[in-house]
Formats: sequence, C-alpha cells, structure tokens
Amino acid sequence: MSNTDQTLANLLQEDRRFDPPAELAAHANLTAEAYDRAAADREGFWAAQAERITWAEPFTQVLDWSDPPFAKWYVGGKLNAAYNCVDRHVEAGRGDKVAIHFVGEPVGDTRSITYAELQDLVSQAANALTDLGVAAGDRVAIYMPMIPEAVVTMLACARIGAPHTVVFGGFSSDALASRLEDCQAKVVVTADGGYRRGAASALKPAVDEARTKAETLGHTVEKVLVVRRTGQEVEWDDSVDVWWHDAVDGASTQHTPEAFDAEHPLYVMYTSGTTGKPKGILHTTGGYLVGCSYTHWAVFDLKDDDVYWCTADIGWVTGHSYIVYGPLANGVTQVLYEGTPDSPERGRWWDIIEQHGVTIFYTAPTAIRSFMKQGREIPDARDLSSLRLLGSVGEPINPEAYVWYRHVIGGDRTPVVDTWWQTETGSIMISPLPGVTAGKPGSAMIPIPGVAAEVVDEEGKPVPNGSGGYLVLTEPWPSMLRTIWGDDERFKETYWSRFAKQGYYFAGDGAKKDSDGDLWVLGRVDDVMNVSGHRLSTTEIESALVSHPKVAEAAVVGAKDEDTGQAVCAFVILREEAGDGGDDIVAELRKHVRKEIGPIATPRQIMIVPELPKTRSGKIMRRLLRDVAENREVGDVTTLADSSVMDLISSGLSGGKGDE
Ligand code: WTA
Repeated sequence: MSNTDQTLANLLQEDRRFDPPAELAAHANLTAEAYDRAAADREGFWAAQAERITWAEPFTQVLDWSDPPFAKWYVGGKLNAAYNCVDRHVEAGRGDKVAIHFVGEPVGDTRSITYAELQDLVSQAANALTDLGVAAGDRVAIYMPMIPEAVVTMLACARIGAPHTVVFGGFSSDALASRLEDCQAKVVVTADGGYRRGAASALKPAVDEARTKAETLGHTVEKVLVVRRTGQEVEWDDSVDVWWHDAVDGASTQHTPEAFDAEHPLYVMYTSGTTGKPKGILHTTGGYLVGCSYTHWAVFDLKDDDVYWCTADIGWVTGHSYIVYGPLANGVTQVLYEGTPDSPERGRWWDIIEQHGVTIFYTAPTAIRSFMKQGREIPDARDLSSLRLLGSVGEPINPEAYVWYRHVIGGDRTPVVDTWWQTETGSIMISPLPGVTAGKPGSAMIPIPGVAAEVVDEEGKPVPNGSGGYLVLTEPWPSMLRTIWGDDERFKETYWSRFAKQGYYFAGDGAKKDSDGDLWVLGRVDDVMNVSGHRLSTTEIESALVSHPKVAEAAVVGAKDEDTGQAVCAFVILREEAGDGGDDIVAELRKHVRKEIGPIATPRQIMIVPELPKTRSGKIMRRLLRDVAENREVGDVTTLADSSVMDLISSGLSGGKGDE
C-alpha cells in the first residue's frame, strides 16, 4: 500500500447473518458484558483470566511494559506448564478422563490415553530427557509424526523447563539443520517414520542428514531419541541414537515438576518467512498459557463433555496452542489424528467425527475448499450430528466456503468461528464469540475481550468504517511473542517499527472495516493489487470466484500490465461435478466476477488448473503464480508441499484451455 489517500476498495457485499443458537447463547462461557469489562480495565481482565492457571507462586504485577516492545506478563509468578496441562487434572479427580483419542492413519490403529496415563508418560519422558543430559534452559528439537509421543515430548520439555522447537515433519533435512543450529538444540526427538497417504514415510534419515549438516555449521547435536512407530529400517549410531522404548518406557513414572518463572522460555517456533532466514518466534510460559487457555475456553465455548478436534499439525503454532497447551490446560478430551484426510479414502475425517462423537472441530479453509471440490455426498454419507461448533484458521475463509462448512458439515446448526491470529500472537486475537456474535460469512468480526486491534492508514490513524488499511494490535497481550530467538533488533524492526510512534504491533496483514465496523482480514498486504488505481484484495476476488457453483478453489495474483499497472490473473480449480466446465467456462467466470464485484475486478486471465501451489501449511504460494502470470521462469519451489504441482499447472496451460 503506497498511497495514503486510497483505501482498499470495499466491493464485495455480504448480507447473510447467522445468529448464535439460543441454547448456546443461554449457557455461553463468555457473554457480551465481557467486552466492556475488559475494555474498562484490561489488566484487571487479564489478571482474572490468569486464575484459570495454577500458580506455584502468585504474580505481583500483571504487566511490565516499561521497556517496550519487550513485555513481561505476570511478573514474579511461578508455574509449571506441564503440571497445568496434566497433573492438576489428575489431582482434581479427573485422572480417568480421556485426554487423547489417538487415531493412527492405518485404520483400526487407535489408542486412548487418560489424564492419569498422560501424567505417567510425561513424567517418564521428563526423567528420560534429564538422563540424556537435558537441563532447564537447554533446547530440544522435535521432528515427529502426529503421534501421542510428540505431545508427550512437548510436555516433558515444558516440565523440565527445556524450551522445545517443533519442526514440521514434512520439512527437509536442510530446514531442520538450520533450525537445529539457530537454536543450538542439544537433543532431537524423532521417530523412525510415520504413516501418511497410506504408506510409512521415513523421518529418521532426515535427522541423520540434518545432524551432519548442523555439524558443518559448527553445531553438535548430542543425542537423538527415536520412537519406533513404523518399524522401518533405520541407520543407527550407538554414540548418539537412543530408542524411546529403551530410555522412556522403563523410566520412573514419578517426577516432581519444578516451578519456573512466568517469563521462562516455553518454546521457539520458526515461521517460514518469505525471504531470508526463518524467524524463531519465542513464547514464554505464563502469559502464553493464560492466552491459550482463555481463548480456547471462550472462543470454542468449551464445556466439560466436549470432544474436541483440531486438525492442525503440531509442527505449526495452531498445534501448539490448540492441540497441546490450550486444550490440555483446560482438561479437554480431544482427537489426535496422524494422517491425511483422504486415507484410506476421502471420508476419513468424517468417519473420525462420527466414531468419536466430535463436538468442536477446528480446521483450515484450504481443507474446507478441498472438501467442497469433492462434493457433499461424502460428508452427507456420515452422521455428523455430534458437531456443535466449527472453527476456521490460517487464511481468510471465503464466504462461500464458510456457508458450505456451516451447512454441509455443521448441518446448519453450528456457529462458525473464523479465528484470526498468528504464530507471533500465540493465541486467537480476532474472532466471533459463538454465544454472542451473529456470524457474518467471511468476517473475523471484532477482537475478543482483552484484545485491542485497529485498522489504520499509513499514518497510523484509524480508518473509518467502509475502508481498509493495516491491521494492528494497539495494546500488549499476554501470549504475545517476546522476541525473535537471538535477534532482538530483528524483532523490533519486523513488528514494531512500522508504527513505532504509536507503539502498535504490525505483522503484515491488511484488513477492512465494513459498515458495521466488523473486520475482514484481507491477507498479507503484499497480496493487495493495484488495478488502474483501485486497490483490490486478492481475497475478495477469490471469494467471488469460489461463489460460482462450478468453482472449488481460486487463487488470484496481480500481474504487471502496461495499461492498468496490474491486472487480475486468476487460477481456478473446478469442482469435480463441473467436469471441464464447458466451452465457455472462462467467459462465464469473468462475467460472474464482473457481476459480483464489478468490472474493475474482472480477471484479465483465468487459467483452469488441476492444483494450486501450496506450502506445507496450506498457504498458496502466490509468488509462483505471479511467475506464471508474468511469463517468467518459475522461481524456487522447494517449500512447496508437492513440488510437482507447478509442472501440472504448466502442462495444463499448454493444453490450451483457459487462457484468454
Ligand atoms: C493468516 C496461523 C484471515 C494471516 C494461526 C496471518 C488469517 C497468518 C486467519 C498467520 C483468518 C490466519 N483470517 N487470515 N482467520 N488466520 N490468517 O503464523 O495472514 O501460520 O498473518 O498462524 O495467516 O499465519 P501463522
């Protein structure tokens, strides 16, 4: 966004509203009064939320913001995160409650773990890590499939005060090596492999390679702890490698958790920055745990008998906050699924919901759109009536995908909470409250009680309703990142320099306020196009395309254009039932966008493609699509989940169809 006087064109109209179910509203954990209560005394509000957590020593000050942007929350407080997630539930007499229903990808491979069993497992792992030489403050890297041992390891690290860094199991050995080096990990916990897409996929070889590479970077990993999951053949180095079943299974189930300072580092999560070295986002213990626990309880309206399922991988922040720390601090029963949604067949997720009676389901728009593409017959063939609340995270959810999610998956009963947050924010910042908010498809609505956000212009002034600008957080919050690991300067520069004068946090998203003042996150500011002087959001045009009955998914990029500065180029995946879309599909879609948004947004080009290039966390890599749209050689594809996608797109295009 370069000009100051222009605002994001607010073109898409959305009039559908979904009121909270009466029953839910009547018993909601958080009601409308909380907004005022929090605004009147923000620190007092956060002090009250901290009572959700068990403190070994009480804090003496809620927030120390004397040296911004370096915050200290719950000053003087001491706690143990693992104790809060496990032991205290057992002490409260809930040891027999199931914490985790593990569902392996191979059908029938299931295991239920109660809180009492989890306490034993975490204690054993904590003892084993201590025996391997891990002490408080040492870093432990975790490179594992979605199996209970991954959760156990994270909690064991937290229990002994050793910050973990979970590296997504789909990342390469190079990515792992640079993270091992950056945070100087002493120990790596991994598995021989895990099950994905119906086959055993190896993990240990990448750790071996990463260890060698880290060595060349001057860093030595001391030990590698290996879970036997698939039984596949592994290379073994006796001086380094240790089997989990040797080190952990025989360890004592007795372990006394030590209380750590509220600001003791809990974990480092690397975000895949678009350029340069990945940023190690540091989260600390007290504020983070309060933020996760509070938001998980408030936004999902958590009740004691809920069965919760978040489909994220523990390699992402969503897995940290909404599989491990939030849900377990709240003593929830949850599903943990190892594999892919379509293994052994496309209805797998819906089978799991039916089998376990899942009541709260939290997933990403990219998954929802892929199910839309397959058609509703697949979920319709399952009993999904246990669901009472649906959540979405990771990118803007198009109104059509929201409505499909609510109707087809939620049986038109369930509220959908569209939750905006980031690795950096640690927990949900902007979201409807399911018992309060009338849902508006495509809008994340307003900040939750306790959080202060604004949409501002270049000068940092709030924009009026109906306008767009930069999304900022205007007050510190407990689960905020504390720094970038080892790089305080980069932390200040990246997040706090853009609106330094106002002291606002800015992490790169554009948003608009609609006429009611509700927020629409429009994606990263670099996803904003300028067509003939009009600012257009890629998200809005994508939503318009996805609202066409033949379209399953769309990605829009701005390509250089001699006439208009930038022109709209769309890549579209059709729904299966639409076949090849018919001869006039491109004209039909252009007309549709013209009707939905207006002539200015009409794509110059529409390319019908079989797949879109996505990162492993499901974000569309628009950079690569821009290369295609501008007829350049396609750039670096190494962070794609499936690197053959770009070949598919190119071969589809050379088939002649689509381009106008
Ligand atoms: C995007 C994932 C719109 C946004 C929790 C943000 C969203 C980035 C939403 C963070 C949402 C996440 N609506 N956009 N509900 N949720 N985003 O760090 O661009 O992997 O800045 O954290 O995802 O991605 P991250």
